[in-house]
Amino acid sequence: MKHMRDDIKEIFLSEEQIQNRVKELADELCEKYRDKNPLVICVLKGASMFMMDIIKQMDIPLEIDFMAVSSYGSSDKSSGVVKILKDLDKPVEGRDMIIVEDILDTGLTLDYIIRLLWERKPESISVCALLVKEKKEQIRNFEIDYTGFSVRDEFVVGYGLDYNEKYRNLPYIGVLKDEVYSH
Ligand code: IMP
Ligand code: MG
Repeated sequence: MKHMRDDIKEIFLSEEQIQNRVKELADELCEKYRDKNPLVICVLKGASMFMMDIIKQMDIPLEIDFMAVSSYGSSDKSSGVVKILKDLDKPVEGRDMIIVEDILDTGLTLDYIIRLLWERKPESISVCALLVKEKKEQIRNFEIDYTGFSVRDEFVVGYGLDYNEKYRNLPYIGVLKDEVYSH
């Protein structure tokens, strides 16, 4: 039987570390959005686990919606092209939006999404990213209001993040063994 764990070289953030941080972020969001009925947007598929965990910890009225974009092919390098695969279900005019994203790498995806959503005249947009990669070449025309963790510029998987669509189901975040890439 194949275990996903066998492909992991190093656990970067444990399940417990992630869940503790999720709780802290949820508390901050609750504080800020208590009377705002925010629209929490999950950027599929990577942010799905993070978003579900965070909203479970938010005991305030809120609504959710999903958006799917692709900025990556099936490799581990950014293609520089952002395409909408699934748009939001409803108009967002006048809404307070929280965009939940898995990871900010080049920044291209979020930059595109944020520009697109501002055109729809929401009241506010804030960004909650689980991971922010520390790298020099990164678009930052926007604030990242809530950051889970800063991570070094290395490819990571787990807790929603994939490599070739796999490893999203790991409850922790880790780095793959080199031989996984060569197969
Ligand atoms: P960006 O547009 O370069 O900021 O990349 C954003 C998207 O690329 C994220 O939403 C992820 O889906 C994917 N991505 C970037 N870095 C990683 C990584 O280290 N592991 C898995 N996916 C990543
Ligand atoms: Mg993704």
